[in-house]
Parts: sequence; C-alpha cells; structure tokens
Amino acid sequence: MHPSYDSVFVRACRGLPVSHVPVWLMRQAGRYMAEYRELRSKVSFIELCKDPDLVAETTVFAQERIGADAAIVFSDLLLILMPMGLGLDYIKGKGPQLTGAIRTSADVDRVQVAAPETLGYVYEGVRATRAALRPEVPLIGFCGAPFTLASYACEGGGSKQYAHTKSLMYRDKGAWDAFMQKLTTSLSGYLIAQIDAGCQVVQIFDSWVGALGPEDYAEYAQPHSARLISSVKEARPDVPLIHFGTGSGQLLEQMQDAGGDVIGVDFQTRLDAARTRLGEAQPVQGNMDPLVLYADGPFVERRAQRVLDENGDRPGFIFNLGHGILPQTPVENVVRLIDYVHEATST
Ligand code: CP3
Repeated sequence: MHPSYDSVFVRACRGLPVSHVPVWLMRQAGRYMAEYRELRSKVSFIELCKDPDLVAETTVFAQERIGADAAIVFSDLLLILMPMGLGLDYIKGKGPQLTGAIRTSADVDRVQVAAPETLGYVYEGVRATRAALRPEVPLIGFCGAPFTLASYACEGGGSKQYAHTKSLMYRDKGAWDAFMQKLTTSLSGYLIAQIDAGCQVVQIFDSWVGALGPEDYAEYAQPHSARLISSVKEARPDVPLIHFGTGSGQLLEQMQDAGGDVIGVDFQTRLDAARTRLGEAQPVQGNMDPLVLYADGPFVERRAQRVLDENGDRPGFIFNLGHGILPQTPVENVVRLIDYVHEATST
C-alpha cells in the first residue's frame, strides 16, 4: 500500500470521512505561475513534457507552492495522438494544432493503436515525480476520454461546432466506432502504465463532451468511455478513477453509468443538485468557476464557501474548479482559496 493511501484525497475518492476537504486544481501547474513562464521561455511545451526531470520539477513545485492535497503529472491529453500517427504542435496564441486530421474511413484505417511503450517519457516523468514528491502526497495520472481525443483528431485543433467530428460520427458510424476502439485500446494501456509507474489516482478528462446531447452521448461516446474505464478498473481495481467532463451537466447520470469512482461536476451545474441526482453516496469533485479567481480574495472565499455549503457535510467530496485554472489567475488567490477550504472544513 502506498504511503498516500490514507491521505485525505485518496480517502475522499473512496467516500470515507476526512479531517478536512481535500483540494487540488486542474491545470495547477501552468502559465499563471511566473516560475512556469520562466521555464517555458527556455523550452517548448513538448520538450518540457518529454523531460522527466523538468516534469517532476514542474509538478512538485506547483503542488508545494499552492499547498494542494494532490499533484497531477505535468503532461498533456494530446501527446498520445502522436504515436497514433498524427502530427502535434502547440502554437502560441492558437493552442494545439494537429496534422493528418481524421476525416474519412481511410484515415481511420491509417490510425495506429499506440503501444504503451511509445509514451515511455511520460512514465519516466511519473517515476521522477513520484521520487521527488513528498510520500504522503498522492500523484494523479490522466488521459483524455475517447470522445474528446477523437474530436481533437477530427478537427485538427480547437473547435466551436465540431463539424468534422460530427460529420464522421453521423455519416459513417462504422468508421467512427473503429476509431473510438483504437483510441480506447491505446488509452487503456497508457493509463495502466501510468499507474504502474507510480500514480495513486487517475482522471479521465472528457473536456469536449458537452458538445453532445444525451442520445448522442449514449450512442457515440458512452460505450467507449465505459470500455476504457472498466478495462482500467479490472486491471487495477484499487486505484480510484475520476471521471470528469466539461459542459456535461446534461450527462451526469450517464457519465456515472459509464463508470468511475468519482464524478467531476462542472461549474454550470449546482453541486447540491448534482449530488442528489447522482445519489448521496457517489463521491464527486468540483466545481467553482475558474474565473472567480480573477476577483478579489474575500469574493473568492465567499464563492468557495458557497460550494462547500452546497456539498453540506456529505463525505466523498474533493474541492476543485469546474474547469482548469486560466493563465491570468493571481497565484495569491489560488493559495488563499486552498487555505480557506482547509481552514473552513478542518475538524
Ligand atoms: O497541472 C495540470 O493540470 C497538469 C497538466 C495538464 C495540462 N493539460 C498542461 C498544459 C493537464 C491535465 C492538461 C489536460 C488538457 N490538455 C485538457 C483537459 C483539461 C481541460 O481544460 O479540460 C485539454 C483540453 C488539453 C489540450 C490542450 N493542451 C490545450 C487546449 C492547450 C492549449 C491551452 C492554451 O491556453 O494555450 C494545451 C497546452 C497545455 N497543456 C498547457 C499546459 C500548462 C499550456 C502550454 C504552454 O503554453 O505552456
């Protein structure tokens, strides 16, 4: 058993009572920190992700600087698309850009299943991070959900309408399912390898799933997410898995059915309503609007308290944002938020 097994974060994932509400924040290592911007002025984002010592330094620095109850491996959702045959670059001001976008069934045929060892630098980063992190702090590994990765691969970058994704999905269900199968197989091996390299918890990000209504989620995405989650849980049953989506309030019960020990709640959904819908015993994570952190300290505290009030005294709660921290966020507000949640909930 890892020394962090009894930490407040891992206990909350398992729905057990805790001495205070655990907090970590999506994108807690990133451009809002001056030290990160300084490092990034010397290395590209992909170089950073591929250097295990820099991954460890970035991950551990962020966790310690803000006092989070968990660290998340510094990496990115999209890296796995490279060994699957797409070109990937991160362009300043434009975000991620992919070449070799998947638009037809012939494109799907060319896609390779990523063997876990093609992402060896990620596991090296996990090992280096685990060695550098205080033993009682859990380390979170992660991957994208099949739908979110498929939409990046189909669009070739960010999107508002998901026109290419939905065209493939609606026009050629056979090709769509074949693509989702290849993604799911790749992602399952990738998450298991991150666990074996030293992650105590994993999170699946379905960041773009809000593009789907309930029927389409059921038909085109849910079976693949369910297969990914069940294959990881069968292989490593003791490792808590967090299933998170964005803009996904309409899908909460279906995401719960797809699986996961903890369900992520976005900021458009009230936490008390989410807990009622999911059943009181279902552990959840969320859900303050990340832009609250652009306001002043007292406002941040009031809004954090609102989230805590909506949760009430239900166990199985992990405080997080409803989505990742944004680049203009003042670091002192993040520290204040985490201190506040700890103090307000300490028993
Ligand atoms: O601290 C952490 O949370 C761990 C690291 C992490 C990153 N990306 C680092 C990153 C995690 C967990 C992610 C997940 C991720 N990546 C998501 C899901 C999270 C979410 O917000 O829903 C998504 C959609 C991506 C894809 C991605 N990667 C985008 C859209 C971008 C560009 C963002 C931008 O504003 O330019 C990235 C790059 C990226 N990933 C950065 C970081 C810190 C910024 C890179 C830089 O310029 O230094």
